[in-house]
Amino acid sequence: MKATAISPANIAFIKYWGRLDHQLFLPVSTTNSMNLDACLATTTVEFNSSWKKDQVVIADDIGQERKVTPQGGQKDQNIFHTLDRMRKLAKFKGGAKVYSKLTFPVGAGIASSAAGLSALVGAGYAALGLREQKVDDPQELSREIRLSGSVSAARSSHDGFTEHLFAKNHQGAYTVQIAPPNHWDLVDLVAVVARQEKKISSALGHELADSSPFWNARLDYLSGKATKTKEAILQKDFLKLAKLAQDDTLNMHAVMMTSTPRALYFTAGTMQILKAIESWQDNEGWPVFFTIDAGANVHVITTQDFKDVIYKALSQCSMVQSILVNNPAIGLRITDHHIF
Ligand code: DP6
Repeated sequence: MKATAISPANIAFIKYWGRLDHQLFLPVSTTNSMNLDACLATTTVEFNSSWKKDQVVIADDIGQERKVTPQGGQKDQNIFHTLDRMRKLAKFKGGAKVYSKLTFPVGAGIASSAAGLSALVGAGYAALGLREQKVDDPQELSREIRLSGSVSAARSSHDGFTEHLFAKNHQGAYTVQIAPPNHWDLVDLVAVVARQEKKISSALGHELADSSPFWNARLDYLSGKATKTKEAILQKDFLKLAKLAQDDTLNMHAVMMTSTPRALYFTAGTMQILKAIESWQDNEGWPVFFTIDAGANVHVITTQDFKDVIYKALSQCSMVQSILVNNPAIGLRITDHHIF
């Protein structure tokens, strides 16, 4: 009873922050994103009826391993709840062994839980034979992934550019594809300016969001934005997408910075890149924009034609530690190459 899945992280254009329902993990609006081909989680899950306990290990891009326990934070607990839910669905009693390998820094705002939870559900369902029985349908799989605790993980269930639909109930909230990976040759250069795990996890941040005095303003602001973003993607309108994505980033971070307690993710490195991008847009006229999830690292989006120019310019920013080069990617998939 062993299976392995690979799932990409993704970068959100209209972001999920705060929830309508904390049990069902329902977001407050439709959110959308692009899957990233260089930011992957590969996860092997094995179930065995003679094992009493679960063993979970996560390894990052530099091979640093972390043993995850049910006593950890909300993010760690989501992993064990997900294993329990899958066992219940399959009427299976026994333990699980999970090993997850990521190609990028963990917990640093590069959607590690998106990639990790999506791969965990994909591999777990395949190992327990649930995939054939219940979730051959990718929409249903995306609902199950959302219940693991992450809407961004649910968006990684489909290929390319995707959106997770808003609904006030579990059934209506699922992921659909906006366009396949080869629709638009955007490049996401992730400028890594901080590798350490953020102080406020997204799991906690979603619960704090409505304590911000700007929360209601964000809800008003979000109205119609996902539709406009989807149009920009379908029309391959770079400037339109740039404006929507940058505005949404700053709008979301205004809520983050003003929640109680506050989630202040920007660092001096973040600001260095934002100011550089502003000058590349205003003075050079390069097609480039920024978007930032829950962390300090900046996703710098450009076109294939400008990839080398922007890469070089980013390398010259003193606070950039490394750059991850991503193209639009396929989503969650099963592989025969097990980690153990
Ligand atoms: C700011 O709880 O889905 O990235 O951040 O990867 O832990 P992780 O996942 P999740 O929250 C996503 C928050 C966000 C915005 C987004 O991806 O929509």
